[in-house]
Amino acid sequence: MCGIIGYVGKENAKDVIISGLCALEYRGYDSSGIAYNVHNKIKTVKMEGKVANLKEKLSENSDLPNIGIGHTRWATHGKPNETNAHPHKVGITTLVHNGIIENYMELKNELKKFYRFKSETDTEVACALIDYYQNKEKDKLEALKMAQEKIIGSYAFAIIFDDEPCSLYTMRKDSPLIVAEKNNNYYVASDIAAILSYTNEYYLLDQGDIAKIADKITFYDKDLNIIKKDINVYHGTLNDVMKNGFDHFMLKEIHDEVTVYKNIINSYVPNLNILDLKKNFGSFLKYQKITIVGCGSAYHTGLAAKYLFENYANIPTNVEMASEYRYKKIFPDKKELVILISQSGETADTLEALRKAKENKIDTLGIINVLSSSIARESNKVIYCLAGCEIAVATTKAYLAQLLILSLLALLVAYEKGQMKKIEANKYLHDLSKLLKDTKEIINNKNYYQDIAKTFYQDREMFFIGRNIDFALCMEASLKMKEISYIHSEAYAAGELKHGTISLIEKDMVVFGIVTDPVIAPKTISNLKETKARGSRMILVTTKEIAKAYENDNSFEYIITVNNINPILQSLTIITTMQLISYYVALLKGENIDQPRNLAKSVTVE
Ligand code: F6R
Repeated sequence: MCGIIGYVGKENAKDVIISGLCALEYRGYDSSGIAYNVHNKIKTVKMEGKVANLKEKLSENSDLPNIGIGHTRWATHGKPNETNAHPHKVGITTLVHNGIIENYMELKNELKKFYRFKSETDTEVACALIDYYQNKEKDKLEALKMAQEKIIGSYAFAIIFDDEPCSLYTMRKDSPLIVAEKNNNYYVASDIAAILSYTNEYYLLDQGDIAKIADKITFYDKDLNIIKKDINVYHGTLNDVMKNGFDHFMLKEIHDEVTVYKNIINSYVPNLNILDLKKNFGSFLKYQKITIVGCGSAYHTGLAAKYLFENYANIPTNVEMASEYRYKKIFPDKKELVILISQSGETADTLEALRKAKENKIDTLGIINVLSSSIARESNKVIYCLAGCEIAVATTKAYLAQLLILSLLALLVAYEKGQMKKIEANKYLHDLSKLLKDTKEIINNKNYYQDIAKTFYQDREMFFIGRNIDFALCMEASLKMKEISYIHSEAYAAGELKHGTISLIEKDMVVFGIVTDPVIAPKTISNLKETKARGSRMILVTTKEIAKAYENDNSFEYIITVNNINPILQSLTIITTMQLISYYVALLKGENIDQPRNLAKSVTVE
């Protein structure tokens, strides 16, 4: 959420910063800005809207700065306009900020005597605070230390000062920030995507760390002791953050799904044997209760996994939204495992949920995509999703990576707890090669889903209904539809519909029924027919086996089928079909698929 890039070096800082902001735009895209030092004067240029607007404005000037900072914003405090856009300048201090300053009103009241504030932001207040201390202390590092002690909230800052034209300072707490060096060029970024065209090696700032970058990087802890840092290496390539011929990152990332599955199989179950999983995931025998915590789609993977843990491993499993878990009463249990699910590994609510579980002495496992992210580093144990960089705001491949890992974990727990014999578990694992084949087939057949999308993309609302794990799949299918196409859609437990909500069904409203479990298929299909009786257009999404019974039933507008696989892996292919349909609906509507309105990737604020 929001992107930061800073640069000191031999190149034109404007170009480095604009290219970084373009790569970071998925983190926020309602305004952007840049500040750079040219001839010992700091110049700030800000624009409402996309980075392209800023780029155009900058093309009018011929400045050649060697140091600067840039920001692409997702508004928290104050409207997305030019005044509220970053960088902010107060006194001789200019900075960009990710995060939220919780005590900004209190600080603003204290600082009002010294400064006149122009924006509605919390960031300008933080900028004033740092300026106040640098003026008082006459030492930049001391000023940053004092500001850290005073600020309550989360922040990643990149800061430049009028009177130190060759230095860039950074510091962070609860918002990610990396620093890198390549051939005497220095970079600061909120994520690796911004600097991948220069280097894949970087340093991570820990909580409270400060870095000063001039002709070298010096790291300090919160007490200003100089500290050494290890280099981290991002094991991807620039291709990960390029569209590579696809019109949208979302479509590219759906195409990546087969590769992601291969990564997971090769790394965690290369021999398709349950003992591989035990070796790579470790033992979970001691746990008698599981709580899964996440937000949005990550929460939805938890909802689906609950059925797998309960049905196959016979272990009671609760699923909580992180934003709720962090403020509710919990009942810690020595035999409980809390699983935190997060693509970014930086989601503020999930991070705080993790800290709460740890404070209550509950064992934690992170299922995380971004390496060395905060949740990955703070969890007792971590399993990486190996999905690579995900740029589209709507998650696709990372959701499926999370779901596959949870499905494998459920199998492992089932085996360890004696609920499933080795031979049976291995039989499930052998179907992984089928999963690759089926997923590839669905994606190759994408035009079919586009044709279906053409029949209802102008609708204003729709329903997704299912039972048990299929209801969890409906939640994800519905979220995918609404977030990128802006069609209002509801996911509903099929059996609940007639307890009130069926009153919303109108003539020609599309209702999807997701049905993967043959035992409850007739029940959900009856519920679907109840909507048809009220005028709906029914689309059944199911397996080939279940579909056979409805071959001659013309009441369905479409029956979308996937090949049968085992029940532990069945959900994955269903979701790929739903992702493709949502993608094409948004495409036909002409929406901004990769950057839907009001959203941003990686929600690092509460
Ligand atoms: C929806 C989506 C979001 C994220 C949620 C959690 O397509 O991407 O709902 O799943 O914001 O993000 P992470 O997984 O980074 O914690």
